[in-house]
Amino acid sequence: MSNAAVPATQDHGRSDGPLHVAIIMDGNGRWAAARGLTRAQGHRRGVEALRRVVRAAHELGIHYLTIFSFSSENWSRPASEIGDLFGLLRRFIRNDLATLHRDGVRVRVIGEREGLEPDICALLNEAEELTRNNTSLNLVVAFNYGSRQEIAHAARRLACEVAEGRRDQRLSNFLLWQAAYSELVFVPMHWPDFDKAALESAIVEYSRRERRFGGLAAKTAS
Ligand code: IPE
Ligand code: MG
Repeated sequence: MSNAAVPATQDHGRSDGPLHVAIIMDGNGRWAAARGLTRAQGHRRGVEALRRVVRAAHELGIHYLTIFSFSSENWSRPASEIGDLFGLLRRFIRNDLATLHRDGVRVRVIGEREGLEPDICALLNEAEELTRNNTSLNLVVAFNYGSRQEIAHAARRLACEVAEGRRDQRLSNFLLWQAAYSELVFVPMHWPDFDKAALESAIVEYSRRERRFGGLAAKTAS
C-alpha cells in the first residue's frame, strides 16, 4: 500500500472494530509528482487527509489513532522540505486544536522533543495540556519518532530508575524485545537460593495467567 499502512494493532473483542489504529502517512511526494505538483503541495493535501481520518476514526468509535507524522529518519530530507513539514505542523495545531478540543479529542505526542525548535515544543505541549482531560478519541501524534529510539530511551530510563533505587524489578537488559507478550514472574529470592521448588512455584504462577496474545479471553472467544 503506497499511501498508508494501517495495522489494526489491537482488538477489544467487540465486533465494531479495533481499539487502536496506527497509520504511516506515506506517499505525499508521489501523489504530488503524479499530478505535476510540488512535494510541499502533496504534504498540504496530506494534512487534509489527516483531518478526514481523524473525523472518521472518531465516528467509527476507534479509541486510539496513532499517526506517524515525522520520523527520526526524516531529518535526512532537504532543509526546505523539513521546513515545510514543520510549518504544516504549526499550522495544523494552530488551526485545528480548538476543533479537536471541542470534539473531545485527547492529543498525545510521542517522539523525541529534545532538539526541536522551542515554539514547536510549546505548541505540542499546549495541545497536550488543553486536551488532557478529553475522553473521546485519543490522537497519538508520532513526531520526531523512531521505534528504536523509543526502545533505547525506555531502556535508559529504566536503567536510571534502577540505579537510583526507584525500581528493583528488572529484566537486566535481558531479552527486552522478546519479552513482548511474555509473562514475567518476579521471584523474591537471590539466585543462589533458587531451587526446584522455586522453579515449580514460578511455573504454577505462570500457569495461572490468562495469556491472550492480543486475542480474546478464552471464555469470550467462542
Ligand atoms: C509522507 O509522504 C510525509 C512524511 C514522511 C512526513 P512522503 O514525503 O514520504 O511521500 P513519498 O514517499 O516521497 O511519496
Ligand atoms: Mg515516503
